[in-house]
Amino acid sequence: MSPSRAGRGSKRGSDPELLAESVDLPTVQDPGWRKMLQRQLLQWYEVAGRRLPWRQSQDPYRIWLSEIMLQQTTVAAVIPYFQRFTAAWPNVAALAAAPLDEVLRLWEGLGYYSRARNLHRAAGLVLSEYGGQFPRDVKLLQQLPGVGRYTAGAIASFAFDLPAPIVEANTERLYARLLALQDDVRSASGQKQLWAFAEAIVSAERPGDFNQAVMDLGSQLCTPTNPACPACPVSGYCAAYRQGLQHELPRKPPRAAITAICELALIPTRVHGGQRQFLLRRREAGERWAGMWDAWREETRPEVVDGLGGEHVSQRAKAGSRSLFSAEFSEAIPESSVERLQSQCGVRVGAVQAALQLTYSVTRFRVRLTAAVCGVRGVPRRLPEGWKWTAVEELAELPLSKTGRQIADWLSQILLQQPEGL
Ligand code: ADE
Repeated sequence: MSPSRAGRGSKRGSDPELLAESVDLPTVQDPGWRKMLQRQLLQWYEVAGRRLPWRQSQDPYRIWLSEIMLQQTTVAAVIPYFQRFTAAWPNVAALAAAPLDEVLRLWEGLGYYSRARNLHRAAGLVLSEYGGQFPRDVKLLQQLPGVGRYTAGAIASFAFDLPAPIVEANTERLYARLLALQDDVRSASGQKQLWAFAEAIVSAERPGDFNQAVMDLGSQLCTPTNPACPACPVSGYCAAYRQGLQHELPRKPPRAAITAICELALIPTRVHGGQRQFLLRRREAGERWAGMWDAWREETRPEVVDGLGGEHVSQRAKAGSRSLFSAEFSEAIPESSVERLQSQCGVRVGAVQAALQLTYSVTRFRVRLTAAVCGVRGVPRRLPEGWKWTAVEELAELPLSKTGRQIADWLSQILLQQPEGL
């Protein structure tokens, strides 16, 4: 086995002939067919491949970083984050040395924050286990936090030109159509066939270019709806196109139903040393958005959110009319929520002073959230670990969830409108 073939990690070894046999399409077993398909794809890529910031070098650090960012995220959304990260931390040693809070702060808005925590952990491991050099081996790459089979294959092929297969959203669609795969692409049998095909078809001579070519073809031409088959360089090799099935394939499980829920956030506020402060908590390990700062919040009944107001409340809050809040809105907050907050932070909560309503989506939930700023009663005691009185200026430095940032922007805005305080 040549050194560049090490680490492909297949039980059947890396022989394309054997791999092709496990794909249920006779043409795949023909080496000439595979060669021609590779040639067409690579020729198309030379002309039509995208020039993306992470393709300007074969630096495994930049490729790894981009691939983690691109998991479940579009190229357009990733580009500015990639540029900010590489400017702040140009290599893996710099990233490993950065405080996690700074990494989370720069990741803010990109979503799926476990990726940022894993990124930071993996940078530390590359330094401590591999002397700052990414391993040139798919199996070892897969041992890094956040690096799955696809990401390991992408790093191995793009950075090290190892003939490692990849299957991600774009290649999955393209390969499922080339094979006219009838199985659900997410099923075990669908995945098995797609990965076997990916292993059999990856170019041994130019694996990095080949894998980027299939990804680009998938995203540019072999699109989920209205695929551009007449412009496609491999439509002549496509079983779905031949059978007129390109609009029906790939087959996918039905999307999970969206569940509507309501949330109440309570934000105690005080003036301390002449400075307006808001009480925040750091989200704990195992929670969504772990490690980020946020308002205290919990799921609540729709009546609570409705009782605290819809549009009219946010408009009144924007108008800065403080007298409109207080008793009437405070009554809408369930005593049990107030008690839970008080028992967790030790601060006694007073009347509602302002409220904001917003809607956001996370995983399969559509959430209607009302955030209420409340006064405090009595002298607040020392806060437990993970809680913090925060001035508006400090909010800019803290990593916050997306809705946490919206709430923070709103707090800054109402303070600007009412400089003397709420
Ligand atoms: N999606 C996932 N990885 C990608 C890459 N390297 N280029 C473009 N799109 C991608």
